[in-house]
Amino acid sequence: MAESITITDNRTGNQLEIPIRNGGVEASEWSKLLPGIWFYDPGFVSTAACESSVSFVDGDAGVLRYRGYEIAELAEHSNYLEVAYLLLHGELPTAAEYDGWRHEITYHTYIHENVRKRFLEGFHYDAHPMGMLVSAVAALSTFYLDAKEIFDPDSRRRQIIRLIAKMPTLAAAAHRFSVGMPFVYPDNSLDFAGNFLSMMWKVAEPRFDANPTLARALDILFILHADHEQNCSTTAMRVVGSSHADPYSCCAAACAALYGPRHGGANEMVIRMLTDIGSIENVPAFIDSVKQGEGGRLQGFGHRVYKNYDPRARIIKQTADEVFAITGKNPLLDIALKLEEIALSDEYFTSRRLYPNVDFYSGLIYQAMGFPLEMFPVLFAIPRTAGWLAHWQEMLDQDSKIARPRQLYIGPEPRPYVPIAQR
Ligand code: CMC
Repeated sequence: MAESITITDNRTGNQLEIPIRNGGVEASEWSKLLPGIWFYDPGFVSTAACESSVSFVDGDAGVLRYRGYEIAELAEHSNYLEVAYLLLHGELPTAAEYDGWRHEITYHTYIHENVRKRFLEGFHYDAHPMGMLVSAVAALSTFYLDAKEIFDPDSRRRQIIRLIAKMPTLAAAAHRFSVGMPFVYPDNSLDFAGNFLSMMWKVAEPRFDANPTLARALDILFILHADHEQNCSTTAMRVVGSSHADPYSCCAAACAALYGPRHGGANEMVIRMLTDIGSIENVPAFIDSVKQGEGGRLQGFGHRVYKNYDPRARIIKQTADEVFAITGKNPLLDIALKLEEIALSDEYFTSRRLYPNVDFYSGLIYQAMGFPLEMFPVLFAIPRTAGWLAHWQEMLDQDSKIARPRQLYIGPEPRPYVPIAQR
């Protein structure tokens, strides 16, 4: 069977055969037959915006791979910094490469004093930490003027290391400011997750050593959140990057996209929803209200790509048990389990193929570990930075065109200007 399709323009009878390549057909080929006719695809539901080798999602099978490695295997055996290296370089590091990488990330965790003292401390006392992060990441571009040299390999590598290293520092600084606690400087003797937890929670002790199970759980969550092919924030990164803006400005745009409740803000919304439901007895009535369209959406359920159980949600559910063994069970867990049980046996959800996604259980872990709700999207942004940068780099190496879609104009026909007195 030919790996191609043939389309016919019924206005002219002209035909065109287009090859199917890597599961796609090139729009530029269609356009030869259809000049001036655009493909209408709001939300890019049927559009592949690029070729990519960073991660792979099979939504029907519930599969996620980074550079060919199964997410479950990486979560079991790897750590976030190694995964970040894999995403950015395409291969797992050798021991020497890993040591060099970890050293470089560790020694770029400090932020310029002006970022903290003059910039972050200028926010209102109750500023949302995600809003602070979006702005702080954008502000970094003004501190590293060499970041504009995006085609200089040394500069590019420097900015990548800086961004991955400084995200936890900015995130913790935003939190400390919002609770009125003094800033904690990075501790270069700690690993990536341990250092972040130290900057979050350290009070007066000379060195903060996080509980190793909790630090490992956070590192697993970082692995699971590191990349997810062309999601909304990665698309924002690529779109802004396609104009050749510096990587800090691109990352700020990606953070802003992640902020929304339909994307990285969903984990925060899950906890708010579970808190509103209040107890297991109220779950059936809540499910009914969602089905009637009155209770909003079931937060943490459904996904544009997964039409099966999100493999990350399965791993997070296991990690939750290990965390709760130390922190005590999050009282909202029983409500979440009941919601999942009812939803997975309800025709409304099964017929629409709505399953728990990555955000359904992650918030329960973050909450049990003591993170305030406002920090949840920030916790997502820290590891996703590696994925954003991997896609940004890939896009630049592909010498891709500036992102500039067309539109179907539905506004008024040409009309003469009417002076204000005659309107
Ligand atoms: N609860 C109830 N109904 C839902 C839900 C939900 N969570 N999600 C989708 N539906 C229904 C929707 O009403 C529609 O029904 P109908 O065909 O009768 O109109 C159908 O399912 C298809 O929904 P859609 O909005 O066309 O699907 P989408 O692919 O555009 O949206 C989504 C995907 C993730 C935005 C959506 O499922 C949603 O809003 N979920 C809740 C928020 C959430 O958990 N987001 C996190 C996503 S995963 C992590 C991340 O990306 O950051």
